[in-house]
Amino acid sequence: MERAVARIDYEAVRANCARLKAELGEAELCAVVKADGYGHGADGCAAAALDGGATRLAVATASEAEQIGRRFQHVPLLTMGALTAEEVDAVISAGSELALWREDFRRLVAGRARAHGHSARVHVKFDSGMGRLGNPDPREVLELARACAADPDLELAGIWTHFATADELDSAYFDEQLDRFEEVAAAVKADHPQLLVHAANSAAVLRDRGSHYDMARCGVALYGLDPFQRDPAEQGLVPALALCSHVADVKRFPAGTSAGYGRKWKAPVDTWVGVVPLGYGDGVRRALSNNADVLVNGERRPLVGTVSMDNITIDLGPETGVRPGDEAVLIGRQGEEQILAEEVAARLETINYEVTCAISARVPRRPV
Ligand SMILES: Cc1ncc(COP(=O)(O)O)c(C=O)c1O
Repeated sequence: MERAVARIDYEAVRANCARLKAELGEAELCAVVKADGYGHGADGCAAAALDGGATRLAVATASEAEQIGRRFQHVPLLTMGALTAEEVDAVISAGSELALWREDFRRLVAGRARAHGHSARVHVKFDSGMGRLGNPDPREVLELARACAADPDLELAGIWTHFATADELDSAYFDEQLDRFEEVAAAVKADHPQLLVHAANSAAVLRDRGSHYDMARCGVALYGLDPFQRDPAEQGLVPALALCSHVADVKRFPAGTSAGYGRKWKAPVDTWVGVVPLGYGDGVRRALSNNADVLVNGERRPLVGTVSMDNITIDLGPETGVRPGDEAVLIGRQGEEQILAEEVAARLETINYEVTCAISARVPRRPV
């Protein structure tokens, strides 16, 4: 028994990749394992994703590139984020491909690649409407691509973009972005037929085959999280993470007894309360105070009182068979009951991505 543990089902990751790959056909699947695999553990999930049909990996930061590059030396890796000059060195040393969208940064990367003694593979990013990283000017993107292709220290590996509203199924903006990208990608590909065109994230893969191009960069769906914030089963996805703890103590609470900081809950009637030893120090957000369920012995028990750093309390009712040592599930399945990350996200008015990313390093990730 462990105080708190995130159980990771690699078979689910493999199955989710196979599901995405079936959608993608010939297009490659790039498994996005940034932020420690969305909180699921990057190394294990990357290996499972590669088993499930992914042929490439992507991360956001230089330190993630170092970690993944070391472990998966022969798998093409893309670092998608903005990098400082020092980080460019680290990313090149890690053998990762880089994103660029400005001429001064292109020169910097070329110079660093020369110093390393080998060319750097680069993906030119077009900002088709995300309004974040990328160059929004189609003409400059074409020029950048040409400059990369002509530079002996660079290898033009890709032209890409990212969608702002792929997860909003009624959004016409998605189609607008796709149209804008289509034009730029076609022009760049005409000049450089060998490069990879890529745009789709998980939501785009599932909603529109026209967005697949040569490769899709999928994160959330790999982990069995629904990009549309509904039940992942609707998309044939299997959740890969369960957040589990145990009941450390069971206490009699006469009516009026309060649980936790600030006395935000008082027993309305005589009841039993279970203490579960994990809290916001583990990534169980304080906003779940009086606002979540926990599964014990296959039944939902309301989280009562304030989430503290290391403990939560749950109402077990006036009669209970729950004993210290019984398993407590905050995310995952127990018997017939299931709590999805999507449910927790809805209670927090956020998205499933944030729920699993928030599970802290204090919680060990263990394979099922
Ligand atoms: C640039 C980029 N591409 C792809 C992804 C993967 O998106 P998703 O997890 O929605 O599949 C992300 C994730 O945020 C991203 O930032």
